[in-house]
Amino acid sequence: MKYNILVVDDEKNIREGLAKLLEMEGHRAVPAADGREALALLERGDVDLVVTDLKMPNLPGDELLRRALAAVPGLPVIILTGHGTIESAVQAMKQGAYDYLTKPVDMGRLTLLVARALSEWEVKRQYREALQELQKRSQFSNIIGKSDAMRRIFEVVQLVSASKASVLITGESGTGKEMIADAIHYNSDRKDKPLIKVHCAALSETLLESELFGHERGAFTGAVARKRGRFELAHRGTLFLDEIGEVSPGVQIKLLRVLQDKTFERVGGEETIEVDCRVIAATNRDLSQAIAQGQFREDLYYRLNVVNIHLPPLRERKEDIPLLISSFLTEFAEAAGKRLEGLDAKARAALYSYRWPGNVRELRNCLESAVVLSRSSLITLEDLPPHIRSDADKNYVKLSLGLSLAEAEAELIRAELLAQNGNKTRAAEVLGIGRKTLHRKIQEYGLEG
Ligand SMILES: Nc1ncnc2c1ncn2[C@@H]1O[C@H](COP(=O)(O)OP(=O)(O)OP(=O)(O)O)[C@@H](O)[C@H]1O
Ligand SMILES: [Mg+2]
Repeated sequence: MKYNILVVDDEKNIREGLAKLLEMEGHRAVPAADGREALALLERGDVDLVVTDLKMPNLPGDELLRRALAAVPGLPVIILTGHGTIESAVQAMKQGAYDYLTKPVDMGRLTLLVARALSEWEVKRQYREALQELQKRSQFSNIIGKSDAMRRIFEVVQLVSASKASVLITGESGTGKEMIADAIHYNSDRKDKPLIKVHCAALSETLLESELFGHERGAFTGAVARKRGRFELAHRGTLFLDEIGEVSPGVQIKLLRVLQDKTFERVGGEETIEVDCRVIAATNRDLSQAIAQGQFREDLYYRLNVVNIHLPPLRERKEDIPLLISSFLTEFAEAAGKRLEGLDAKARAALYSYRWPGNVRELRNCLESAVVLSRSSLITLEDLPPHIRSDADKNYVKLSLGLSLAEAEAELIRAELLAQNGNKTRAAEVLGIGRKTLHRKIQEYGLEG
C-alpha cells in the first residue's frame, strides 16, 4: 500500500532530500514549504503521516502539530529538530507527536520510524473502516442465530457491553468467538475508540511481550525507536486477546498486573503507563484443564473470566443451521452473480445431519464452494464437499418412485438395522415401534439374515 507523507520544511534541500528518500521507500511524498501550506494539504484529508520541521515561517511546527491532530486524531507526526532545540521537541512529544529526530536527520532511523508509525496507523485505519462497515449494519444483525443458546448469548452481550468487565469467550474453533468480541465492543460506549486485536499464539514470547506492552528505544537489538504496545493503542477502547490459552507464564504474570492495576512499563522502560482498556479474551482450549496441568495461572483466569460467554458447537444448536444456510447462500449467490433458489432436499438433509467439527466457519466455507460449483438454480448433494456427501450416504435410504409403502417401510427398517449394527432394541426405539412389532415386520419382509 502506498501512503501519503507530508514533508514540511522551509529549507528546500532538506525538504527535497527527505521527499526523495521517502519516494524511494515506496511512499508518496507531498512537500510543503511552511506550516500554512502544510495545513492546506492536510485538509484534503488523505495524509497518512507528517514529517515536519519545528521552526518555520507562517505557522510553526508545534502549531501545525496541534492543528493536524485536531483535524485527524491519531495522525502520526514526526518532528525534526535542530541541535539546541531539544526542549521544544520534548514539548511536542507531550502534545502528541509520534516521535522526534534531531538534525542532521539519520535517514536509516527516519525510514524505520516511518515504517513503524505507518504500521500502527494502518491498524487504526482498518479499525475505522471496520467501524464504518459495522455501523452501517444494525446491532448484531451479522451474527445469526435463533436457538435458545444464541438468544441467551445475545442477551449477555447486551448486558456486558454496558459494563467494563473482562469477558472470556470460549468455544470450539469456528463458533464465532471473534464475532462476539466485535459485537461487545461495537455495542459498548467504547465503540468510537479502537478495538485492537492480538493473536497471542502467532508470536514468540519476546515478540508478544513487546507487541502488548511496547518497548523503548534501545530496549533490545533492533529496537531503534520507541514503540507503543497494543495496550496503549487500545487506550479507552477494547483489547481482544485471541488464543489466550497459548500465552507463556512470563507474559501471564504481566497480563495479571495490567488487569489488576491497569499499569505496566514498556519493555526496557521505567515509566509506568496507565491504561484504560477493556479486555476480551478468547480460547478454544479448556482453561480449567490447563490450570490443573499448571500451564495457566488461576489468578489470571479469574481476572479474565469475570463474565464467561460459551459458544456451543453448531451440532448442539442445529436449529440455527437453516437460518445460517439461507443467509450464507444469499451472500455468496450475490457475490457470484448467480440466481439460486436454495438447496434440494437431499443436500439440505446432508448439511443438517453432518457433525460440523469446524462449526459455522466450516458451514460457511462449504456453502461458498457449493455456490461456485452449482450448475443449476438448486444446490444438490453433488455440489457439496465429498466428506459431507459420503457422510450423508450412510444416513440415507434411497427410495425410488414406484415403491409401495410396505416396500418403503422395509427399506427403512433394513437401513436402520444396519446403522444400529443389528441391535434390534435400539432400532425399534429409533423407529418408534415396539420390539415385538419390529420382529414381526422383520419376518414379514424377510429381512432376517
Ligand atoms: N453466528 C454466526 N453468524 C454468522 N456467521 C458466523 C457466526 N458464527 C461464526 N460465523 C462465521 O464463521 C467464521 C468464524 O467465526 P470466528 O472467526 O468468529 O470464529 P472463532 O470462534 O473466533 O474461531 P477460531 O477459534 O478458529 O478463531 C467467520 O467467517 C464468521 O463470520
Ligand atoms: Mg478466532
